[in-house]
Amino acid sequence: MAAITMKNIVKKYGDGFPAVNDVSIDVQDGEFMILVGPSGCGKSTLLRMIVGLEDITDGDMVIGERKVNDLAPRDRNLAMVFQNYALYPHLSVYENIAFPLRLAGASDSEVDEKVRAASKTLELDEHLERKPGNLSGGQRQRVAMGRAIVRDADAFLFDEPLSNLDAKLRGQMRTEIARLQKRLGITTVYVTHDQTEAMTLGDRVAVLKRGVLQQLASPRELYTNPGNLFVAGFIGSPPMNFLPATVRGTSVELPFGSVKIPQEKAAMVPEGKLLIAGIRPEHFEDASVVDEGKRGHGSTFTTRVDVVEWLGNEAYAYIPFEADDAVKEQLTQLERDLDGEAMRNQLVVSLDGASRIAEGDEAEIWVDARQMHLFDPETGDNLTVDLERAGRLPAKEDPQAQARAEDVAADAAAH
Ligand SMILES: Nc1ncnc2c1ncn2[C@@H]1O[C@H](COP(=O)(O)OP(=O)(O)OP(=O)(O)O)[C@@H](O)[C@H]1O
Ligand SMILES: [Mg+2]
Repeated sequence: MAAITMKNIVKKYGDGFPAVNDVSIDVQDGEFMILVGPSGCGKSTLLRMIVGLEDITDGDMVIGERKVNDLAPRDRNLAMVFQNYALYPHLSVYENIAFPLRLAGASDSEVDEKVRAASKTLELDEHLERKPGNLSGGQRQRVAMGRAIVRDADAFLFDEPLSNLDAKLRGQMRTEIARLQKRLGITTVYVTHDQTEAMTLGDRVAVLKRGVLQQLASPRELYTNPGNLFVAGFIGSPPMNFLPATVRGTSVELPFGSVKIPQEKAAMVPEGKLLIAGIRPEHFEDASVVDEGKRGHGSTFTTRVDVVEWLGNEAYAYIPFEADDAVKEQLTQLERDLDGEAMRNQLVVSLDGASRIAEGDEAEIWVDARQMHLFDPETGDNLTVDLERAGRLPAKEDPQAQARAEDVAADAAAH
């Protein structure tokens, strides 16, 4: 096993396209690291540079103690598990797992020992004589992992291994991969564009946008302390709500009325300037089901509810609002950056299943404004971020280098 250190990694493709811009990520020995971001943000490119399938334009790739920039893939001792598992259909499960050992000229007894050990770990014992075509998707996945295990690789690398599976199997496999990784304790880098996979699998998650690292933190840190609008909008489903906001004293003016925030938070932002407030759906509630004790921590406002989706244990209410042009512009850009996943012209509010709010009601909504983030509409920075609990934020570590990297990415995107 080994740590993987990426230092100021740059990738420019042959046609000059800057796919990865000055990315530094330190994967600890035994850590489960996720690379996440919208399509085209450079996740696969980064992974392929770790394995050695893609040249590194600039920067250092260090695995264990070794700089591997110029090492051939076979000399890096890494195991990559692809989306389609690449199993040999005519070979038995046993021989599929044994394949890398046979290739390396291992003796029959060594092959047998290692294949049986892997198959035991992966609970494949009763399937060893079968062909991959007769296995379930999950079993095939385990065979692919078995092949990686017998090689005693220093790390596992996954590129969207679950994206071909249906939702149910994807959920099962997610749990299975997490369990296996913990049991084996092997350094793992896992690429996905699915924020649920990122949140549930990773010890830490690296969020990328257009080849630039935005934040590297634990799932909890990303969720509660996103460093900028992009991370805030990407992590969480349904996504965080973004609203125009102006702060005066400890009051924040929102489209629905005024709410109070703590003094410490108010002190972090400029007064009287148009900002973007970010509030997650679960930090709202039907005021009538909030108990007295909790009520005092937040503010209430009255508004018309457009649509209600009742899911049994909870409900989502949709409340349209108008945003100022400056805010609208930033949010439109954000939507583009996020691959247009979000709907930003309405507030999404999560309500307790006991709530009786119905479509078209004038409802009293409670909001826990302590949980509000305030973003600079020009830069997208979270002005109220708690740096102690935000993991690594490249924009704070070296603002100039980060600005340069963002400029390169923005230029390329404009062409
Ligand atoms: N061989 C290539 N030549 C030129 N540009 C490339 C090449 N391969 C990838 N790119 C570009 O580099 C960027 C990053 O590609 P990459 O495949 O790493 O994205 P990704 O994050 O894995 O996306 P996805 O989620 O769609 O798999 C993209 O804009 C892509 O078009
Ligand atoms: Mg990819």
